[in-house]
Amino acid sequence: MSMSRSMSRHLVALSAAVCVAAGLAATPATAEPASKESATTESAAPKPRPKTLGELARKHHKYFGSATDNPEFTDAAYLKLLGSEFGQTTPGNAMKWYATEPEPGVFDFTAADEVMAFAKNHHQKVRGHTLVWHSQLPAWLTDRTWTAEELRPVLKNHIQTVARHYKGKVIHWDVVNEAFNEDGTYRESVFYKTLGPGYIADALRWAHEADPHAKLYLNDYNVDGLNAKSDAYYRLIKQLKADGVPIEGFGLQGHLALQYGYPAGIKENIQRFADLGVEVAITELDIRMELPATPQKLATQATWYADYVRACLAVRKCVGVTLWDYTDKYSWIPAVFPGEGAALPYDEDLRPKPAYHAIRKVLGG
Ligand code: XIL
Repeated sequence: MSMSRSMSRHLVALSAAVCVAAGLAATPATAEPASKESATTESAAPKPRPKTLGELARKHHKYFGSATDNPEFTDAAYLKLLGSEFGQTTPGNAMKWYATEPEPGVFDFTAADEVMAFAKNHHQKVRGHTLVWHSQLPAWLTDRTWTAEELRPVLKNHIQTVARHYKGKVIHWDVVNEAFNEDGTYRESVFYKTLGPGYIADALRWAHEADPHAKLYLNDYNVDGLNAKSDAYYRLIKQLKADGVPIEGFGLQGHLALQYGYPAGIKENIQRFADLGVEVAITELDIRMELPATPQKLATQATWYADYVRACLAVRKCVGVTLWDYTDKYSWIPAVFPGEGAALPYDEDLRPKPAYHAIRKVLGG
């Protein structure tokens, strides 16, 4: 999972070289030119702080964020970067059903509130993730069978209790997560099987009642480019809008892997959803690779990050980019995809990788 020491040293050297090549060490253009008179004072004055990814993105009227998770809240160095570099955060697990309603009708917001408090203290926007998903459900929900009459009120109560708790505090809700299969058919989740495809419109309406100001999203993976799965979302969102259902956004998770190639048509895909009248967010970006990481793979990864961020910048209605955590130290990848990792722009020692510098450059830093 972890890189060898010599490899990390090599990467640090490589990062530094990329940084210098990109002119990142130069004084930002906003610095006052030093006059002869003020030269002494100027040289004593601290150098202007380089802009953060969040600040750079804001100039494009977008946010740049990172997911986070509660176990990481004991790591001061990690929190310092999370709170300073990013203008937005998403709780990686804390708002999921297993965490927020561990027993039927019994709600627990402790973990999610901890993330909300951090975000508030650091002036970060928060994306709510997620109200309805087939995964990470509590056992009381998955260990039995349900009739539609039984499940409907349970689903409504879950959505509305959680959305009400965070009313006015989250900018978006991923209301339904991962509703489709790769071929564009509906995923056979407990919600689909019990309630039929109409559960999606119901979920959106219930969430809107509970928090009318949060923008409501559908969110999925492998929908970055043009393919059968993103086509299915295109048709569904078009229909939902025609039916007057409150759908305002489409989330591209963006879990890419170098070995599968860069998805074709990301910008075109973002644009077609924008043209439907919804905004688009890049919600869970990471770009994994088969380990070990090599300078070559990390250079390709940097290009992919830059290209993906550029695709978002090219479409006005693409509102922001969220990394699925920012450091390889806390990435979910090694645990879920054995033998893969190194997916994020900071390494396991919280040092910026080539991808970080590539993103900065695209954002104009
Ligand atoms: C992941 C979390 O990061 C892990 O900690 C957890 O064990 C599994 O879920 N798509 C999603 C996210 O929508 O909620 C998932 O998060 C990653 C894939």
